[in-house]
Amino acid sequence: MEIRLGGPDIAAVETDAVVLLETEGQRRPDLAAPLAALYDSGEITGKTLELTLVHGVAGFKARRVLVAGLGKPERKNPALLRKVAAAAARLLKSKGVKNAVFALDSAMSADVEAVAIGLATGGWEPDRLRTEKENTQAIDSFTIAAPGEFAAARERGVAIGEALNLSRDIAVQPPNLLTPMSMARQAREMAEKAGLAFEVLDRDRMKQLGMGALLGVAQGSAEPPALIVMQYMPEFVQPGTAHLALIGKGVTFDSGGISIKPSDGMEKMKYDMAAGAAVIGAMQAIARLKPSIPVLGLVPAVENMPGGKAQRPSDIVTSLSGKTIEVLNTDAEGRLILADAITYAKHLGCTHLVDAATLTGAIVVALGVTSSGVFTNDDALLGQWMDAAKQSGEKMWHMPLDDEYREQLKTVYADIQNIGGRWGGACTAAMFLKEFVGDTPWVHVDVAGTAWIDDAKPYLAKGPTGVPLGTFVHLAMNWK
Ligand code: BES
Ligand code: ZN
Ligand code: ZN
Repeated sequence: MEIRLGGPDIAAVETDAVVLLETEGQRRPDLAAPLAALYDSGEITGKTLELTLVHGVAGFKARRVLVAGLGKPERKNPALLRKVAAAAARLLKSKGVKNAVFALDSAMSADVEAVAIGLATGGWEPDRLRTEKENTQAIDSFTIAAPGEFAAARERGVAIGEALNLSRDIAVQPPNLLTPMSMARQAREMAEKAGLAFEVLDRDRMKQLGMGALLGVAQGSAEPPALIVMQYMPEFVQPGTAHLALIGKGVTFDSGGISIKPSDGMEKMKYDMAAGAAVIGAMQAIARLKPSIPVLGLVPAVENMPGGKAQRPSDIVTSLSGKTIEVLNTDAEGRLILADAITYAKHLGCTHLVDAATLTGAIVVALGVTSSGVFTNDDALLGQWMDAAKQSGEKMWHMPLDDEYREQLKTVYADIQNIGGRWGGACTAAMFLKEFVGDTPWVHVDVAGTAWIDDAKPYLAKGPTGVPLGTFVHLAMNWK
């Protein structure tokens, strides 16, 4: 779909549909008379995400007018605009609309960016493998009509929106099709098109380097592992400048391994690479938007299976860092692969690390499916991350990482064990990662509750959400 910018004279545009925003308790002057009956009967109230589609509205050349509710005027913000735009695009797509205009009477750059993201992503459906789709329609073009100069905002929104679609297209694939190697191939395709340096470390290379923690997880599967490496370099890099790493958990299926999961709900573990898919998407947007900081994208991709060669509870592996790990539960595999990816990012010279992972069920117990949990060893980087999250509209909550949690990871047999007992599971998982991060500024984001949704919303299909892709991109773009 193409997303353009257009002038504010909406009434005169010949198009399939024009989307007009309405706030609660008001009547737009241009609709008050032609749609008086709908307002009077309470069918148009302006409530958040209310959508009213009307044909042949007097005063408009457009075939249809879609009145989209924004809620209370003081609640207008980019995150809400993005949802309303996505819901509008979703509805218009289902009606077979080809060309449409989205009208913003007044707007700031962040609003236009948000609307562009919403329009670009609203029509995404998890139906790529259905031969009989519910809806095969697609919108060809959307024009955002807004007074002002918004070319950069449009470009940012489209880049982030298309990156979200890519990331969701990757994350939605089932594990028989999205193996670690196939994930690597899809990342390579993106990197070649986007002009990013690209490399995949295979099992032999990992052995040479000594990535015992990652290899231990991979050894129970017939599918070989892949460490996906994507590198963005700005044209001019000042000596001594920061170098950011974005690291995403890429477990293409998490059966639990020998510590096997209950079969009920195990199918959800096809999403255990959603954070890795978010890194691949973010790298595409970063390549287009060209921030001033170099960014390394790393995705350790493996399948966690209980094959005959699988690691056992009580195995002790030697990680790339040299530290030994006692694997007491093979289902705590995300932290093992991330440990080696984090060490590798440091070896490559990264000065700031951000990892995202569907890491623990405990974070879902703590925060539900609304906010991602954020852990850090560096308040400055945390501040940058939270600012970026505010811009992206992805909700984040700062979680504790006190030294005391380290006690729960003590074992006499190795330097550290990979589980921390019953309490504070998300915190001990983060503490495990910190062991490999050391003093490098780092933020860890547990997206186990936010990386996918089980039930569709008017503005979001069921399946992977793309979180925290938007925050990744804003973090890189904000870097001074
Ligand atoms: N991939 C899971 C975490 C997860 C759980 C993601 C629910 C999404 C929804 C992770 O690898 C895992 O299995 N974690 C275990 C850790 C435990 C064994 C210490 C968990 O959370 O139960
Ligand atoms: Zn697991
Ligand atoms: Zn997992």
